Amino acid sequence: MSRTSIASQASSSTSDTSHTSDVLVVGGGIIGLVTAWRAAQRGFATALVDPEPGGGAAQVAAGMLAAVTELHYGEQTLLGLNLASARRYPEFAAELTEATGLALGYRQCGTLAVALDADDRAHLRELHALQTQSGLESEWLSGRECRRLEPMLAPGVRGGLRVDGDHQIDPRRLAKALVTACERAGVVFHRVWAERLSVAGDRATGVVTTDGTELAAGQVVLAGGSLSGRLAGVPDAVLPPVRPVKGQVLRLTVPKRYAPFLSRTVRAVVRGSNVYLVPRESGELVVGATSEELGWDTTVTAGGVYELLRDAHELVPGITELPLTETRAGLRPGSPDNAPLLGPTELDGLLLATGHYRNGVLLTPVTGDAMAHLLTTGELPEEARAFTPKRFSTARTEQPV
Ligand code: GLY
Repeated sequence: MSRTSIASQASSSTSDTSHTSDVLVVGGGIIGLVTAWRAAQRGFATALVDPEPGGGAAQVAAGMLAAVTELHYGEQTLLGLNLASARRYPEFAAELTEATGLALGYRQCGTLAVALDADDRAHLRELHALQTQSGLESEWLSGRECRRLEPMLAPGVRGGLRVDGDHQIDPRRLAKALVTACERAGVVFHRVWAERLSVAGDRATGVVTTDGTELAAGQVVLAGGSLSGRLAGVPDAVLPPVRPVKGQVLRLTVPKRYAPFLSRTVRAVVRGSNVYLVPRESGELVVGATSEELGWDTTVTAGGVYELLRDAHELVPGITELPLTETRAGLRPGSPDNAPLLGPTELDGLLLATGHYRNGVLLTPVTGDAMAHLLTTGELPEEARAFTPKRFSTARTEQPV
């Protein structure tokens, strides 16, 4: 279907043309924003509905771009998409800064994943073997070599993996820049909650907001992060199977006299839990993250803070000297296979860009490109086809009632 026919189809369903767009994005986190920005750049009249565009999980996330150090067994397909997005980051960041004049804190600093005991070291050796089999660049270092790179590391560090290709960006800056880029590209913001998807016949036609406004659109992109499964009016058969996975994150500040405290991201699995320290050029040091299946709870708990500080302290004892400036919890949009849902649903006019789980910041560039390609041509580009939401349809229809 052409852009013109999509737009005119939407126009015919409402008399209020200011509330009509070609593309309506539901959700103003970084995934919704990048989709809206790219759609507007392709010439679509684009609107976005969210009470607080630029909010959401990006306000909590550390912003690791960790395709290699976050590789897991069974996730090689996701690895392909993660790597495709990592490759686009330099150009994407430069374009976004050029469009907005805003710095993003994009730092090509690399990552060091370390082991503190024999079990951790065995785990890291396995990860190294998987990385090598997958053709990824990752170098095994002794404990001494790790400490030469990062002198603040604990004397007990037993070895590590140097991954020079895993970088970082500041997600708060990224979100702010995407809001500005959208504004400059002409995206219309409706700063209110979407309450219900509108469906006419067998087609999604827009949403009704909590203040009763009807927003009509040729195509609706549901990009609501962990909330994506909760929009009323979405038929059960196409409701995204996305759940919230809580992550508690701390922010510390490195006083100038201690800089450089760490020169790259340092991470480890300590007693089965991930801990990472992400040092920004601004002096902020982000320590994350818990991973908790507790529904919609975003309480910062004493236990969460204690475990993060305990594990981070085992890696880098000097952190106890630093001011603790912020504690916060956010919700990752988890999917059944830990990979995003990108593409059309079985309801015409309803597309998904959600379920990015631990990789939302990393996958922002490739998601924007894939969704723009889809909106323009009706098809996902090759690298995103495996992530169609339809991969979950069969499983759901086969579930016992
Ligand atoms: N990607 C890191 C996290 O989700 O904690």
